[in-house]
Amino acid sequence: MDRENKVSITVIRRLPKYYRYLGDLLRKGINRISSQELSKMTGFTASQIRQDLNNFGGFGQQGYGYNVEELYKQLGKILGLDRGYNTVIAGAGNLGQAVANYKGFQDAGFKILALFDKNPKLIGLKIRDIEIKDVDELEDFIKKNNVEIGIITTPKESAQDVADIYMRSGIKGIWNFAPADLRVDEDLIIENVHLNESLFTLSYFLNNKSDYIED
Ligand code: NAI
Repeated sequence: MDRENKVSITVIRRLPKYYRYLGDLLRKGINRISSQELSKMTGFTASQIRQDLNNFGGFGQQGYGYNVEELYKQLGKILGLDRGYNTVIAGAGNLGQAVANYKGFQDAGFKILALFDKNPKLIGLKIRDIEIKDVDELEDFIKKNNVEIGIITTPKESAQDVADIYMRSGIKGIWNFAPADLRVDEDLIIENVHLNESLFTLSYFLNNKSDYIED
């Protein structure tokens, strides 16, 4: 895809929100929605929504709006949620266990095959029905089980070591919760979840209520 046809990262980051709202509408039995109504729900302007969706071919019809089921299905495809992913978690402490315990990721197609840790006290335990294995087995396990996504919930000091294992094993994407800037090959995709940064942003807004502009 050449540069002009590429979709901006800001648009891509809005897609999961559209997808979530459309899912809620579907569950409520609502079949049709206008960009104005979507705007009220999402907080994005109607023209922004139309522009965002036009990036992918535009699914609306003038005077009709959007067919909720169709748009939900198409956005799911665009987000790659129309297929499953095998995942593993490195670091089976508080956060790793919480992620493994949340069934919603599996329901969305992200199957957690195993957790890995270096603490012998944790190895062999199960979170729901997912086993905690020795991190020494991680590389082999990934190669044998067609694992595409590696989750990192180790302390930041171990995060690069885990990322190196993921790289060596052919993982395609890393979902990183450790507060570390990881160095990986260019073709490996990293999505960082920095909970602290989000909390500190909240703190900023609490202290500077009107000191910002929406973009
Ligand atoms: P934790 O100490 O409960 O768990 C970390 C686990 O990683 C331990 O079980 C440890 O044995 C394991 N570990 C250490 N080195 C390893 C290695 N090389 N390979 C495999 N396993 C290894 O820590 P917690 O609270 O779960 O946090 C995990 C990460 O998430 C940290 O980087 C933390 O900064 C970050 N984080 C956690 C939050 C939370 O709510 N718990 C919030 C924000 C960030």
